[in-house]
Amino acid sequence: MPRVIIIGSGIAGLFAALELSDAGYDVLVVTKQRPEDSSTNWAQGGIAAILDQTDNSGIESHITDTLACGDGQCDEEVVRVVVSEAGDRIRDLLSIGVSFEKAGEEFHFAKEGGHSTARILHAKDATGKEIESALNNEVSRRENIELRPMTLAVDLIQRKHGAIEEGICGIWCLNLDDDTMTTELADAIMIATGGAGKLWAKTTNPPVATGDGLAMAHRAGACVKDMAFVQFHPTALMITDERPFLITEALRGAGGVLLDDEGLATHLKERGDPAPLSFTLEYSTKGSLATRDIVARACDNVIKRSGADHVWLVCDHLDTEELQSSFPTITERLQRHGLILGKDPLPVAPAAHYMVGGLDVDLQGRVQTSDSTVIPGLYGIGEVACTGMHGANRLASNSLLEGVVFAQRAARHIITELPSSLSQSPDWLADGLQELLEHSPLRHDLESLQATMTDDVGLVRRFSRLKRALRRLNLLSDEVDLVWSTCRPSRDLIELRNLILVATLIAQDALQRTQNHGLHFNADLV
Ligand code: FAD
Ligand code: SIN
Repeated sequence: MPRVIIIGSGIAGLFAALELSDAGYDVLVVTKQRPEDSSTNWAQGGIAAILDQTDNSGIESHITDTLACGDGQCDEEVVRVVVSEAGDRIRDLLSIGVSFEKAGEEFHFAKEGGHSTARILHAKDATGKEIESALNNEVSRRENIELRPMTLAVDLIQRKHGAIEEGICGIWCLNLDDDTMTTELADAIMIATGGAGKLWAKTTNPPVATGDGLAMAHRAGACVKDMAFVQFHPTALMITDERPFLITEALRGAGGVLLDDEGLATHLKERGDPAPLSFTLEYSTKGSLATRDIVARACDNVIKRSGADHVWLVCDHLDTEELQSSFPTITERLQRHGLILGKDPLPVAPAAHYMVGGLDVDLQGRVQTSDSTVIPGLYGIGEVACTGMHGANRLASNSLLEGVVFAQRAARHIITELPSSLSQSPDWLADGLQELLEHSPLRHDLESLQATMTDDVGLVRRFSRLKRALRRLNLLSDEVDLVWSTCRPSRDLIELRNLILVATLIAQDALQRTQNHGLHFNADLV
């Protein structure tokens, strides 16, 4: 039977593994920490889906909202495919034991920013954990899937026919438990490595989000697309010395409102006010429930003007008991900081959340080169891929959906079309490489990278700042390349090298844009 390697154990990687396993394939899933360490596991709000495929108006309305949010930049064919296949993929998830919230006999649908109606399936405020654990449980039952944790994919191995490189036939991996390098060969490789939130000082992403898959595919000739479109989530909890913690948009869907200092002072004076007026209404008639690009920039604007590091998310006009029962994860997290959901105003600010751009893939998830030919044997699925679904801005809760739909499509393509072609390949050569003795320069390079991306390639950009960022990124790249060429790879070194490459691709794409769309906002273009 053919063998497929999947890099990453989030929704995209695990779902594809199950699909291939059903067809009898041998699957190796490598993942760099524990199986559950992924953005998927941290997803809160839910998965947008119309379950009934005959509900044309529901499907059209989901498509319309997705296209509007994407600011004219979505690929409509892709949007139609994903929205239309949602029902089948949700039924697949239900069949492996995923449990979504119900209201009586029916599913309960939540609402988030940019959605004209409530269409988001969820498991209270821990939807990702519910999906991730069901997928991992199912994977652990399959004899033809090997899930190998603590295994960091370092680079793709190109297949050679004589002197010609054609396609990908394997990966080199670093085993993080014993620091050994291994070579793994397969008929196809699926990259499902997620995003790169670690590029910014403040991110909602888990630490594994370092853009590895995108960087390794780019080094192997893959084309990337729409890299300038980086989504910042407007409401990450800002507590000094704490990693930002996402406060789901579903809380605003339930009636939570964003206020600035002045708005909060007025609201507190007029307690009992049923619907406090948000500063976001100056930016959109949808106020706190406008799309994320608008709300995040509105928050950023207020924060820059006030000099504080946050705005306020207020829910004290809502039913506290109901809120706490609907959002138990958030309730518990707030309690750790002495805050009560439904009573206390919450300090929140934008944080890097999602990479809209990524590997340029077709409707089968096949990775393309810059001349639009496919790289044989290489697939990109989930957040690492840019399918065209999200255009210039992703609609809330459309990411898990896109991940599961494209995981299935790519796996199906492998099953129906891919010939078996395991080939020989070289082992990793470490001759002459030294142990990395000093780690602190790498740590400081990472901090410098995050400062550059935060200051110069954030929510609001300028040409001069983007050029400054690229100068600094070039310096960092030279430094890290020097270490790379002389030292044995460590996790810190591998991730930093990948992050710098992804940062450079983002800054380059942002610099060459002459128009603002969705998430890309250059103040010089206004
Ligand atoms: P991930 O789930 O991120 O998985 C990537 C995997 O790749 C991980 O297992 C990682 O360890 C592994 N990996 C990375 N590099 C390597 C390497 N070099 N070698 C081996 N393994 C590697 N979207 C929604 O639609 N709805 C939501 O409610 C929602 N909430 C969110 C909340 C938070 C806090 C965050 C961060 C994101 C949220 N998103 C949400 C976005 C969504 O969760 C992600 O886009 C989606 O889960 C990505 O899935 P994925 O399978 O592509 O990648
Ligand atoms: C959230 O729950 O606010 C995040 C949803 C998403 O990123 O789609």
